[in-house]
Amino acid sequence: MTALNTTLSHFKKSFGGAPPAFVVRSPGRVNLLGEHVDYNDGWVLPAAIDRAAYLAVGRCPSALASLSAADINESVTFRVTETAAKQNVAGQPLPGWALYPAGVAHTLREAKLNVAGMDAVLAGDVPRGAGLSSSAAVELAFAVAWRELGGWVKSGMELAQLCQKAENEYVGVHCGLMDQFACANGQANHALLLDCRTLEWQPVALPAEVAIVIADTTKRRELGRSEYNNRRAACAEATRIFAAALPGVRALRDVSAADFDRYAHLLPPEVAKRARHVVEECARTLAAVDALRRDDVAAFGQAMNDSHRTLRDLYEVSCFELDAMVSAAQKLDGCYGARLTGAGFGGCAVALVAASAAADFVRELARRYEAATGLTPEITVCNASAGATII
Ligand code: GLA
Repeated sequence: MTALNTTLSHFKKSFGGAPPAFVVRSPGRVNLLGEHVDYNDGWVLPAAIDRAAYLAVGRCPSALASLSAADINESVTFRVTETAAKQNVAGQPLPGWALYPAGVAHTLREAKLNVAGMDAVLAGDVPRGAGLSSSAAVELAFAVAWRELGGWVKSGMELAQLCQKAENEYVGVHCGLMDQFACANGQANHALLLDCRTLEWQPVALPAEVAIVIADTTKRRELGRSEYNNRRAACAEATRIFAAALPGVRALRDVSAADFDRYAHLLPPEVAKRARHVVEECARTLAAVDALRRDDVAAFGQAMNDSHRTLRDLYEVSCFELDAMVSAAQKLDGCYGARLTGAGFGGCAVALVAASAAADFVRELARRYEAATGLTPEITVCNASAGATII
């Protein structure tokens, strides 16, 4: 059964047979380039994907959110006006998955937006912990639903910022804006170039003759959260040191390659490695987008390979399984480039592959990865899709 059908049939079972008032589709995302730079004010190039969270929503006259997570067969009811304590109506702690809707409700109310009660069922096919932003997909699904129920107006970017705030302050994960941005603003057949400082963004057309392949190592993130926060701290330290030497530096995005070479000796060695990845990745992303606009897919693919190298050797967020997947992919016919995608430490790799070679690529990559690791991967060709919306 598809995730959408699961949501609909579960809704009927849970809420007395009536159909939902509406259904929200909210996609996951894959990042093509610009990794670990969103919290350094850099440039990212994600695309929303054709895997999504689906939320079937019914109106409810009280201030209660009665939510079911169909995939894990759990339900929770909380009062949308009393989210601060992170408890359900019976005063018990909310389960982990419910922190996302409760956090979104909390943040929307803080922003003085009306948050109505709802009966809702959530299901989806974005794998969790795979680096494809299953949590941002859930957050945006609820934000779009509450916007619809409340009849207020906010753009996709504004919803993304509110959801990021919910994740940072309520759930306690200090992510940047990329994931929520991509889930909110995705466009079919396009990647999205976002300037994480100015928040200006533009769609970048993906050539029809290339396929995006997502290769899930099936290794799940371990230590992801604390290591992510360590990387952020290293970037903040590097920024402080560069800013003391170079007026005008507010984030690592402001440090050029020449400035980096001149002042890197001031940084502790590990901090210098982290910062070098960020400085290179910022320049690389802008140059690669130019290449893509010139239809130079080979140059774009090379930038993906280079990105994986610095993520592995300098930023140190890869792992054995991701390296095995990426190096197998890079050696196959038709592959322009491959790299880890998302925060790293497990999860997925992304490859850009000639569309005509994609089917063979997927089969052969699965075989080689399994031979190298003993793990059975999940490898799919994916299409860039629209952002979170009522369907
Ligand atoms: C996670 C975060 C994003 C971003 C990536 C790394 O997905 O949620 O904000 O920092 O890691 O690029």
